[in-house]
Amino acid sequence: MNDPSAPIGVLDSGIGGFSVVARLKERLPHEDIIYFGDDSHCPYGSKTKEEVCTMTQQIVDFLVRKNVKAIVIACNTISTQALNLDGHNVPILEIIGPVCRSFSIATPRCVGIIGTPLTIKTKVYEKKLIEENPYLTAMGVPSPNLANLIEHGNFESKEIDRELLSVMKPILDKNIKHVILGCTHYPLVAKKFRDIFPDITFYDPAVFQADELTKLLTSYHIANLQESEGSFSLYTSGSSDCAIEAMERLKLRYPDSITENVLLKK
Ligand code: DGL
Repeated sequence: MNDPSAPIGVLDSGIGGFSVVARLKERLPHEDIIYFGDDSHCPYGSKTKEEVCTMTQQIVDFLVRKNVKAIVIACNTISTQALNLDGHNVPILEIIGPVCRSFSIATPRCVGIIGTPLTIKTKVYEKKLIEENPYLTAMGVPSPNLANLIEHGNFESKEIDRELLSVMKPILDKNIKHVILGCTHYPLVAKKFRDIFPDITFYDPAVFQADELTKLLTSYHIANLQESEGSFSLYTSGSSDCAIEAMERLKLRYPDSITENVLLKK
């Protein structure tokens, strides 16, 4: 854990966490990254809390066995459900706190959050935003299908357009102008959101999470000092079929290695 040359572990229910890796690569280009996507179990957003906690702990254990120095929970759904993960002394950084803290001195009066049904049901975003800034009101809207459509690579489908319009309707009805993309899969279609709703400011929580990870590495004195670009290793419990297209959309370079069908120990 104290070794600056150790990699950072990033985990997500599927390909959505690539949107987080893209932001990490911008801020921390010299860090080695080991990514685990649980594509064979995605979507997590329609699972039970117990299922999400069990699966996530197995991924954390896997990353710890890879000797990571910090673990980034990219997935919003996991960040709302698995609050008692055992990191075996490796620091774990979830995705929701950092973006909410960025609103502590913000001016918008009302913030919308869109995410999976499990994320929105917990109201974690609303509670954290109001804790940070009691002058804010917040409204969460769930999308039952959007993450899954994106996970399967239907980036340009009409179904995605319909889903965007449907999840944004309650937000437009309330004239809310600031919206958090509360699911890692959504930044993969961020351009669509911005094109269809040009008057709305969309926030990608990964930007703020990357800033907090940078601070964490500095404060623990574990930032990687290598001069070359960090490596990127991809592990998935399923297949990487949709991964390459997702990376192209995010302008993320291909992984140095891809390991598919990884079985996690019980
Ligand atoms: N990536 C997950 C998130 O950020 C959502 C996808 C899923 O339902 O598994 O919430």
